[in-house]
Amino acid sequence: MNEPIHELDLGDLSLPDRHAQARAAIDAMAPGDSLMLVGARVPRELLHELLGEAPGRYEWSRLEGGPEGARVALRRRKSEGPRNVTLYLQSDHERLDAIVPEVVRLANEGSFAEARRRFGEFACGLGWHIDVEEQVLFPAFESLTGMTRGPTTVMRVEHVEIRERMQHVTAALAAGDAAATVAGLGALTGALGAHNVKEEQMLYPMTDRALGTPDAQEKLVRKIEAF
Ligand SMILES: [Fe+2]
Ligand SMILES: [Fe+2]
Repeated sequence: MNEPIHELDLGDLSLPDRHAQARAAIDAMAPGDSLMLVGARVPRELLHELLGEAPGRYEWSRLEGGPEGARVALRRRKSEGPRNVTLYLQSDHERLDAIVPEVVRLANEGSFAEARRRFGEFACGLGWHIDVEEQVLFPAFESLTGMTRGPTTVMRVEHVEIRERMQHVTAALAAGDAAATVAGLGALTGALGAHNVKEEQMLYPMTDRALGTPDAQEKLVRKIEAF
């Protein structure tokens, strides 16, 4: 996935002019275009507005969402056809996986400020991904299949381990320790790889199958996006 080129500083979206300018920039996006939304916080109202008015036209990923500010990569999809849970969340896994080798390279080069920034994007994205699985996807899977003590229980336990391993990497990066960073990322990707395969080959397809129709699948994707 290409990095967004243009940055759009959202400023105070409660000002009508600012909101209109932001919307004009977003409405001018062509299929395949990307825009980096920068502001004091994640612009949830604006994203929900896009979801309400043009569902399925845009997709976004949170790169930063802490007290220091927010950055959201917004993309206009190349086609607006229906999506399913498997494709949507698998592509989020792939987007996150692609960041890890960059962090390894930066840490080995001693570029810790940049390594911390990139890992911060990874951690923000994976934190959201895990939260949306636990709070939207797993409950949907459990109510569709009636399986409340099956795969989702295993996935929740693995999420705890994945979060712990992310914290080890954050600590190693904060200490400027390249060897510990690389070892920590190895342990993290080991746990994450096995976890993601189970989700992509079992949990996500089972959810899509239980949903049954493209409409129902697209509806759950939108609920995930709105989280
Ligand atoms: Fe997961
Ligand atoms: Fe996942």
